[in-house]
Amino acid sequence: MKRRWPIWICFLLPLAWAVIVVGSCSNNQAAATADSSARSPFLNLNDSVGYVGIETCRGCHSDKHSTFTHTGMGESFGLATREKSAARFQQKAVYDAKRNFYYWPYWESDSLRILEFRLQGRDTVYKRIETIRYIIGSGQHTNSHFWVDGNTLYQAPLTYYTQEGKWDLPPGYETHNTRFQRKIDLECMSCHNAMPHVKKGSVNAFDRLPMGIDCERCHGPGELHVAQKKAGILVDTRKQADYSIVNPRRLPWSLQVDICQRCHLQGNNVLKPGKNFDDFRPGMKLSDVFEVYMPRYENSDYFVMAGHAERLAMSACFIKSNQGIETEAYNPGTHLTCINCHNPHVSVKQTRLDSFNQQCQQCHQAGSSRSSLHRCLLSPAEQKRNPKGCVSCHMPASDTRDIPHVTVHDHRIQRPQSKSQALVSGRALDLYAVNNPNPSPAMLAKAYVSWFEKFDPQEFWLQKADSLMRAYPEQMSLELRIQLDYMRHDDRSLIQRAQGLELGQTDAWTAYRMAKAWDRSQNLDKALEAYKRAYESLPLYSDFGAEYANALIRAKRLNEAQTVLSTLLREQPKNEWLWLNQGLLASLQGRSSEAITAWNRLLELNPDHLEGHLYLSEWYERLGKTGAALMHAEAAFRAHSNSQEAEKRVVRLRSLNP
Ligand code: HEC
Ligand code: HEC
Ligand code: HEC
Ligand code: HEC
Ligand code: HEC
Ligand code: HEC
Ligand code: HEC
Repeated sequence: MKRRWPIWICFLLPLAWAVIVVGSCSNNQAAATADSSARSPFLNLNDSVGYVGIETCRGCHSDKHSTFTHTGMGESFGLATREKSAARFQQKAVYDAKRNFYYWPYWESDSLRILEFRLQGRDTVYKRIETIRYIIGSGQHTNSHFWVDGNTLYQAPLTYYTQEGKWDLPPGYETHNTRFQRKIDLECMSCHNAMPHVKKGSVNAFDRLPMGIDCERCHGPGELHVAQKKAGILVDTRKQADYSIVNPRRLPWSLQVDICQRCHLQGNNVLKPGKNFDDFRPGMKLSDVFEVYMPRYENSDYFVMAGHAERLAMSACFIKSNQGIETEAYNPGTHLTCINCHNPHVSVKQTRLDSFNQQCQQCHQAGSSRSSLHRCLLSPAEQKRNPKGCVSCHMPASDTRDIPHVTVHDHRIQRPQSKSQALVSGRALDLYAVNNPNPSPAMLAKAYVSWFEKFDPQEFWLQKADSLMRAYPEQMSLELRIQLDYMRHDDRSLIQRAQGLELGQTDAWTAYRMAKAWDRSQNLDKALEAYKRAYESLPLYSDFGAEYANALIRAKRLNEAQTVLSTLLREQPKNEWLWLNQGLLASLQGRSSEAITAWNRLLELNPDHLEGHLYLSEWYERLGKTGAALMHAEAAFRAHSNSQEAEKRVVRLRSLNP
């Protein structure tokens, strides 16, 4: 059986059938105050304290600001300007041989554009141009590119790999090129930016989209602190903490690590009930907001790019130094956390390797404060074979498993490993929560289902979820059971469970799953109610709107369908599914040229769209234009050689068009 490696979350690709269900986060309900924040002495953990932005901090802390803005975090996100881009532009177009598309980035005055095109011989037979609005990634490793449809955010299919100085498809796209369709949601944006805010009713439209990670992501919201300082309320911070703002150094070591691993931990992030990705504030326990699940392999030593925190946590240095209780105050003399080695206000590019080596020596050298610890087994002369010192042998830069053309440093500090030792072998046996040694059965079950959904669609994971649900029935929500039924295509069971839910109270995703089950069971009336609920809960989420409109069309409620489609098309004029249904609707209303225009609009966005070609072929055939009908049937078959419907059409139309 083919094994899929966990795809680095930054480049997580929705599986084809899961486009909609990925990112099924809860509605942004007012979060109940988390346990850890209620206990914290820091006053800015409270929901009522607002964010003020980096420019405000700059006013009084210009020293921190001046270096921080040149770090990877300070430059993590921005408008696509010539200054922001790290790329060189004189290169051949990138070719995706699988899908037969070329990609070419270029500047047109100050706008960055990406051209997607297809050749036949020397002729360009198709092209689409999108303007890039934002660049994600400081360029220390990569620049990836976002475009917007109306207000909604999508990734573009081209990435610049700085370390090799080349353009290529984004990671993961080489096997599954989703072109311009990958939605950028809060999960993604909240690791790469100051606190963003998703527009109500949407998943990938933002009404607050700052320009890069800022001070408050590590210090918490600053409103109260600024108000106090302006009012002259000062604290002598050499003697005591200023509780109006979080200084991570003053936190217990585990809460301090939680700040960094809020973002530097890659895995399957599973939200606690009622929580969302913007609920974490520095000083909270990360596991109060979400748990991060990783697979455990039979023989495991793999390592992924955003996995710094997980890798460090596997090191004897980390485990043995932080053996004390979690709430113990951080002490750099005994504990080991990220900030022993990193000053987050200064980039690693500006940090001499020596300063890292000194950290090793503080613990591992004779005469150091911790001279009982082991020393290097190599003699000083042998160590000198690598003039860059301890870290170059014990924290080597390696390829990451899931990103091509990128190297990062392995943060698992250990005896040097040979390349073959470092490879994963065996199969994934289980999942574990990196930031919670004792996850609840409900969270673990949720993790299994979403792992199946997002990373590894093997029945094995659903079986694990199922047995947990049987063992702890009273702890499992109906929504989670419905999700499991949905993954298993067990419509009968799903419908039975749905009886226990009030449709008006369900979240959009559960409603959608119910709609699908009813729809497949030929109960269009029930399905319509549930599609409507999904649509009305997330009215700017075009996928739900398109499905609702489609069901309305099938129920012959054409005027209502038109309202949904027109509203959404005004917001997102480049959505394929909306145009497909718009064409269908117009054709049913006998507006022939409008139908053709809508379907052609769809094919301009996606020249390989199966249904688009088939509908057009059928329509032209009805109009007696069998030549055009054949052309579209052939195009459908070229792009989808496994479609029997396309094949049958081609054969039949060829017999009509000798
Ligand atoms: C859990 C937090 C998290 C999520 C979610 C996440 N990323 Fe990342 N990403 C990171 C971290 C941390 C790094 C830096 C890793 C390093 O430097 O070694 C990174 C690195 C990157 C880089 C390379 C930056 C550079 O130049 O070094 C890009 C581009 C990127 N991510 C894009 C994305 C996109 C697009 C998404 C969502 C679709 C996403 N990421 C989701 C945490 C995350
Ligand atoms: C009006 C001036 C002013 C502004 C604006 C300001 N600070 Fe401060 N900050 C201070 C002063 C003065 C201190 C030291 C004395 C104190 O804490 O009372 C301080 C201390 C701190 C500390 C150390 C607290 C401790 O316990 O060690 C942190 C962290 C901090 N500021 C972060 C920020 C951040 C982040 C922002 C932006 C959200 C910000 N500050 C905005 C004036 C300001
Ligand atoms: C809001 C999410 C977030 C938080 C919180 C966060 N990081 Fe990062 N960090 C990132 C991302 C994303 C990148 C990669 C940015 C890029 O290069 O585009 C990064 C890059 C870095 C880098 C390399 C870039 C450089 O120029 O040095 C270091 C080191 C780092 N982080 C350390 C830390 C430490 C230590 C903490 C905790 C005190 C922390 N980070 C907290 C998201 C975060
Ligand atoms: C990636 C996390 C991170 C970000 C982003 C960050 N800080 Fe800090 N900050 C820390 C940590 C960790 C400490 C404690 C460092 C130490 O004592 O070793 C700290 C300490 C401080 C202090 C108090 C200690 C001192 O050295 O004066 C101030 C003030 C401060 N930061 C201001 C800022 C400002 C202003 C920004 C934005 C321009 C910012 N920080 C961005 C993590 C961060
Ligand atoms: C805060 C103290 C501390 C720092 C800093 C530190 N270590 Fe350690 N390290 C330890 C402890 C504690 C152990 C486990 C006890 C022992 O092996 O003596 C350990 C174990 C190790 C081991 C043995 C690992 C194994 O799996 O048996 C190696 C190798 C090592 N450290 C190398 C390094 C290097 C290289 C650095 C710098 C990059 C470093 N350490 C930084 C405390 C530290
Ligand atoms: C024992 C020292 C040490 C500790 C502890 C440590 N780092 Fe690093 N880190 C390094 C070194 C060394 C580099 C490579 C610096 C260079 O390229 O010059 C690095 C680089 C990085 C980078 C840049 C990308 C890369 O891999 O080269 C990120 C991001 C990062 N560290 C995050 C973290 C986070 C998050 C933590 C805590 C979970 C952490 N580090 C703890 C030593 C450390
Ligand atoms: C040229 C590469 C190289 C350099 C440089 C190097 N080491 Fe090592 N180190 C090794 C190797 C190889 C081993 C394991 C030897 C073995 O397994 O017999 C080792 C073992 C260790 C151990 C484990 C001891 C044990 O009993 O498990 C520690 C601790 C350690 N090194 C710390 C350091 C520190 C601190 C530095 C910098 C002062 C350093 N090393 C520099 C290659 C290096």
